[in-house]
Amino acid sequence: MHAFKALQRILPSRLRESARDLAEVALRRRPAQGINRVPQSVWDDEYARGRWEYLDNIEEMARYAVIAGYCRHHGNVSSVLDLGCGAGLLRRWLRPLEPIFYVGVDLSNVAIEAARNEWTDESSKFVAMDVETFVPDRKFDVIVLNEVLYYFDDPDLVLTRFAAFLEENGKLVISVWNSPDCRRAWGRSRGSVHMLDEVQIRHQSGVSWDIRLCRPRATSPLIVACLSGAVSMGSVSDCLITIAVG
Ligand SMILES: C[S@@+](CC[C@H](N)C(=O)[O-])C[C@H]1O[C@@H](n2cnc3c(N)ncnc32)[C@H](O)[C@@H]1O
Repeated sequence: MHAFKALQRILPSRLRESARDLAEVALRRRPAQGINRVPQSVWDDEYARGRWEYLDNIEEMARYAVIAGYCRHHGNVSSVLDLGCGAGLLRRWLRPLEPIFYVGVDLSNVAIEAARNEWTDESSKFVAMDVETFVPDRKFDVIVLNEVLYYFDDPDLVLTRFAAFLEENGKLVISVWNSPDCRRAWGRSRGSVHMLDEVQIRHQSGVSWDIRLCRPRATSPLIVACLSGAVSMGSVSDCLITIAVG
């Protein structure tokens, strides 16, 4: 136990948390990281215990800076949707873009509550919801997926569905931690976007992330309408049956 505590003092926060994750997976308190859903209760508990506070440490700074840079590179950005926004740390990095309309969505009520306490202005909204069922009521210039893609059951479906909520020439910014499981999630979903630029950030501790600026691939307007909820799958299949029979 002393050795574990000593290790915790020496290791930088991200590696320390990974070691803790492994222990929690071994004790079956948490599913292994990868293409894996983590229940809302686990996220709430972890945010309440301060397990994710290290995201605000200097080791993570370059990741937020590059993501914010990609958002700004877009030009006239007036709206950003941040999927899996956690406690809203990225929102701070978007200050130079003011005035913008920002929506952050996260599964954890605890994280969303913290974000709402920090951001009380009318142009910052925080929604406690599962991204896989969340349907926006407007389009955005930029949609960010910052360290969340590998928690979805179906990451490629999420990317395809949200592409329908991008303004014309809108962009996706996707950050994926460099670990075999997380890379696998990107491998599964990369076909649904067209990559415009990519940067790898490596902190001196050895932790690294791949951050990508993407645009959606062209999808048939009918499929886009279905995925965005504008047309029901039932009416599409009725229509296809009519065409086939007729
Ligand atoms: C590693 S944290 C990253 C938080 C934030 N993007 C950041 O970098 O500061 C992953 C976040 O994704 C959220 N999350 C995981 N699965 C989700 C889902 N299905 N829908 C919405 N949020 C989800 C978690 O609650 C958590 O806040």
